Amino acid sequence: MAKMWDARFSKEENTRVNDFNSSISFDSRMFREDIAGSVAHAAMLGKQGIIDAQESEKIIAGLNGILADLESGALAVDPEAEDIHMFVEEVLTARIGDAGKRLHTARSRNDQVALDIRLYLRREICEVRSLLRAMIGTLTDIAEAHADDVMPGYTHLQRAQPVTFGHYMLAYAQMLLRDDERLGQIYSRTNISPLGSGALASTTYPIDRFAVADALGMDGVTENSMDGVSDRDFLAELIFALSLVMTHLSRFSEEIILWCSGEFSFIELDDAFSTGSSIMPQKKNPDIAELVRGKTGRVYGDLTAILCVLKGIPLAYNKDMQEDKEAVFDALDNTKLCVELFTAMIATMKVRTARLREAASGGFINATDCADYLVKKGMPFRDAYRVSGRLVAYCIENHTDFESLPLEVYRTYSELFEKDVYDAVNLDACVNRRTVYGGPSHESVLRQIENVRKTLAERGMR
Ligand code: ARG
Repeated sequence: MAKMWDARFSKEENTRVNDFNSSISFDSRMFREDIAGSVAHAAMLGKQGIIDAQESEKIIAGLNGILADLESGALAVDPEAEDIHMFVEEVLTARIGDAGKRLHTARSRNDQVALDIRLYLRREICEVRSLLRAMIGTLTDIAEAHADDVMPGYTHLQRAQPVTFGHYMLAYAQMLLRDDERLGQIYSRTNISPLGSGALASTTYPIDRFAVADALGMDGVTENSMDGVSDRDFLAELIFALSLVMTHLSRFSEEIILWCSGEFSFIELDDAFSTGSSIMPQKKNPDIAELVRGKTGRVYGDLTAILCVLKGIPLAYNKDMQEDKEAVFDALDNTKLCVELFTAMIATMKVRTARLREAASGGFINATDCADYLVKKGMPFRDAYRVSGRLVAYCIENHTDFESLPLEVYRTYSELFEKDVYDAVNLDACVNRRTVYGGPSHESVLRQIENVRKTLAERGMR
């Protein structure tokens, strides 16, 4: 096909160059946004008297026809076209004739693509947020069901202090709530119209940038035409936000993988979310969690890619910027897939509550509570800490624990020990005494669940 700019060129483009230059294979997914932007632009051109009102209407009708045909499949995207912007314009002109050639008045592909990607990402941000919210909802449901299921909390992957499975799940709910909030902030920087920036120096036509932004439901217009066409900060920060979502999922994956092992046996994944081995008949592998952990690296790769693309380019638009799309699309596709599958995986997992309790009983995770008991009876904390430590050593040597140690033995270490020490080291009591705001006690977990649900209900999509 003859190029739009063949008037200035004396040779046709080499086909390999054409393929290299083309972005249609990946930017055609923005066809709805491209058409919406063009409709708003054409309407404004007509209203401002820059083009004839009838021509404006003809263009809009033509564009809507192309949209309907692309949606229905009656029109297929031409893989030979350079990009989605050229494709739509070419089809429009083929369909409606000369009026189609007026659409690009007072516009450049540089501000057009900057608008399209903002519109596309604005929609995607909402999708990611919906998926995150579904996962947060699932986490609060699991937390509610396991608000009293005591388990060990860890530091250095060593059993440290008792918590509950519910409290544990809510820690992840908090991370995802921050992700959701962060995406909302990025949305507000994305939903700004660069249209009217032109190629880089705006235009001499009396356009109305605000009317176009308004028609597209955008919150404002960019302030500087050179920045308008070359800013991809919103896209880079979106990939960063997705990287952080993946970081959270990857940490959670690591827990799931550990918890599925015979050594932990804290949970069992549903058969539908596990895979077998081709050689070892006994195996049930947590492949989904492993893949989520693995795909995290790839999303980080997308972030590195966009930062490296942007770091060396002078103002304003440069073709390097076409590389922004595959990176952000890949990050979005993979993050959405991971959040969705992960949610279904945890919604169907079986929590082995007896095993959680057993693990909580074995590791002297009530040693701090034993020391606190003595402190409440008047002993300075550092002395109480030493007494409790000596008791741990005694228990290890005699294969026993705080719960079963006879009172006489306790009393050889300190006269302050009385019968009520057994209440102090009881695991449920240890958890439920931690009524501090944000702590793992039953009432605190219920309050956390309520707060998370309230936050979700109050938080809009913007
Ligand atoms: N396909 C291009 C992109 O994705 C569109 C803008 C091209 N502009 C230009 N002057 N070559 O960035």
